[in-house]
Amino acid sequence: MRSQCRHMVLLCTLVILTATTAVRAERDKVVRLTDRNWTEILRGEWMVEFYAPWCPACQRLQHDWQALSTWSEDLGIHVAKVDITVEAGLGGRFLISSLPTIYHVKDGQVRLYEGDRTESHLLAFLENEKWKLVQPLSYWRSPSSLPMACLASIMRLSVLAKDLHNYIIETLELPQWISYAVFGLLTIGAGLILGLIFVLLCENCFPSNKQPWRQSRAVKEIKTPAADDQQTGEAPGKVDGEVRHRPAARVD
Ligand SMILES: *[C@@H]1O[C@H](CO)[C@@H](O)[C@H](O)[C@H]1NC(C)=O
Repeated sequence: MRSQCRHMVLLCTLVILTATTAVRAERDKVVRLTDRNWTEILRGEWMVEFYAPWCPACQRLQHDWQALSTWSEDLGIHVAKVDITVEAGLGGRFLISSLPTIYHVKDGQVRLYEGDRTESHLLAFLENEKWKLVQPLSYWRSPSSLPMACLASIMRLSVLAKDLHNYIIETLELPQWISYAVFGLLTIGAGLILGLIFVLLCENCFPSNKQPWRQSRAVKEIKTPAADDQQTGEAPGKVDGEVRHRPAARVD
């Protein structure tokens, strides 16, 4: 009984030791990318994996990805990974819709890797420059474009919202409806601010000193009855009556 126990302890220690060395070896070569420093990939040649810790296919890839990274110096490339559960903004920026997703990036051109996710296929893709056969992402889809930057902000915001919701419910231990009320108010506030910005932008982009909206309406109201009178047959009676008595009330 006792020796069995000791064996088990020994085995466990061994497993833990190998696990930690494996993790350490992986940390040495595969570069982690964050929302702050992802732009590093716009220089030089990179292979970037987007993964989530809970995704089984990502876990299966991990070994080959680490093996690929041991070739990075020989190939003159960088091997990187992005945990999208941590870097939600980057997940949005690269429009990650399946896991794992692998991108090849060279001189700012981003290409989706769709080959087998094994070390040998990945190596062949780089060594034989097979990426040349792949169409790079268009400007609109590329991570440095404005639309993708917007998506990144939205993703970051949504994570922020989730964190705030959890904070209200778990840390402050307040009921859920308070969280929803806070979000309702925030949404309305954001809407108001966006509306204000929009109005200010419009005023600045289309400057006017005579309130064009009111003026054009007054002109229309004066003109319409005259136009109606000319083509009496065609104007529908309802509109006719409505328009006709309004100028009298309005024009002063
Ligand atoms: C980006 O930042 C992370 C965390 O600070 C760091 O571990 C990683 O090495 C950095 N990557 C690059 C390419 O500089």
